[in-house]
Amino acid sequence: MVAHNQVVLPSPTGIYAHIVGWGMAVPDTVLTNQELEAIVETSDEWIRTRTGIAERRIAGERESTASLGLKAGRRALEVADVLPTDIDLIIVATSTPENIFPSTASLIQNWLGATKAGAFDLSAACSGFVYAVDMAAQSIRSGSIKVAVVIGAETMSRVMDWQDRGTCILFGDGAGAVVLKASEVEGGVLSAVLRSDGSGSDLLGIPTVGSGDLRNPDFATNGHKMHKMHMNGGEVFKFATRVIGESITQALDKANLNIEDVSLIVPHQANLRIIQAAARSLKVEPELFMSNVDRYGNTSAASIPIALCEAVQQGRIKPDDNIAFIGFGGGLTWASMVVKWTGSKVLERSNGGILRPQRRQFSYLLARWRANLRRFSKFLERVRPNRGRILRLRDKLDQLD
Ligand code: ACO
Repeated sequence: MVAHNQVVLPSPTGIYAHIVGWGMAVPDTVLTNQELEAIVETSDEWIRTRTGIAERRIAGERESTASLGLKAGRRALEVADVLPTDIDLIIVATSTPENIFPSTASLIQNWLGATKAGAFDLSAACSGFVYAVDMAAQSIRSGSIKVAVVIGAETMSRVMDWQDRGTCILFGDGAGAVVLKASEVEGGVLSAVLRSDGSGSDLLGIPTVGSGDLRNPDFATNGHKMHKMHMNGGEVFKFATRVIGESITQALDKANLNIEDVSLIVPHQANLRIIQAAARSLKVEPELFMSNVDRYGNTSAASIPIALCEAVQQGRIKPDDNIAFIGFGGGLTWASMVVKWTGSKVLERSNGGILRPQRRQFSYLLARWRANLRRFSKFLERVRPNRGRILRLRDKLDQLD
């Protein structure tokens, strides 16, 4: 056993990846269990006792995975006091992307005006956020980038089979985001353990373009519908309760910490009974786990960052606390992570602090002009190959960063 309050393991490069901003966005529309009773044969009592869920949020007509992700990302940038042009990398963890390609991350990069950022989507179902934070943290610690935005965003309501009462009662829509920043101050992301077991790929999924299911002669009868989620809830439940404790213990070992050193575990919000079972397997009080599944249901890759934001709002996380994330879901995949929380502790803030909120707003406005102008100039290039005044204006706008 390792003693408590271990010194942070040194980073080989001397660079650490800190979470310095966080934000969330959920749709206004609430769908209660009572309202679900009118859609499928179920009851408020069944849903509450089997899952702990009372209500979930459903995206409106004008909302999407990218628009929710954008809102969450902007809020995280405010907290971190980072300008869009400082961002090097944007990763969106999602199972409900806007398109197969272009990525939801590229759409958000454009809307933010993050003109110097790379952007891609990451598919690891409900484990996606933890996978993505690890990818961003590794890039920061290697010295290759300085600032990353990681977003978990979902519109699960759009892939629900609203006739399947075993799944449609569980899921909801929303987004959460964090900003990670490089610093020589010790702490931040301490360890991560990512795992996959593709032999369980049939237990939950969303068949889509290229799916082997399409070539399966049983496609029409095996219950898998194109672009709709299917799940064997009982088997996923058993898998989740088996891996959570084991995975958190592995991540703690890697960080040279014990469970007693952890002040809060932020798990994927799938089902209150899964969280309670995980607490039993780790021999800790259920209160050590953050839970808001009652109000949002399962928002897949968005659930951990949304729960993280609410834990911060509720004052459950303080600077220098050790906290853990655990995600699990389709793939099968699972991932845990230990973080020494930085919070709003100031890490090398840039000058010009008071004008930065205005500069961020200007950057969003500029991004909108630039996007429209780029589209128009691409159209002009097609109809009139000569570079005209519009193209020179576009170049000027690019230099405004
Ligand atoms: N309302 C009323 N009755 C229902 C409902 C419902 N919404 N759904 C199922 N039932 C019935 C079943 O038909 C069954 O009836 P029967 O006994 O007459 O056959 C009975 O309730 C019990 O069904 P179970 O499936 O055994 O119920 P269980 O207690 O296992 O709960 C649940 C089901 C909630 C889906 C649970 O298995 C679960 O939460 N699984 C994990 C899901 C999960 O965590 N997914 C996470 C990953 S998601 C991702 O990665 C995208």
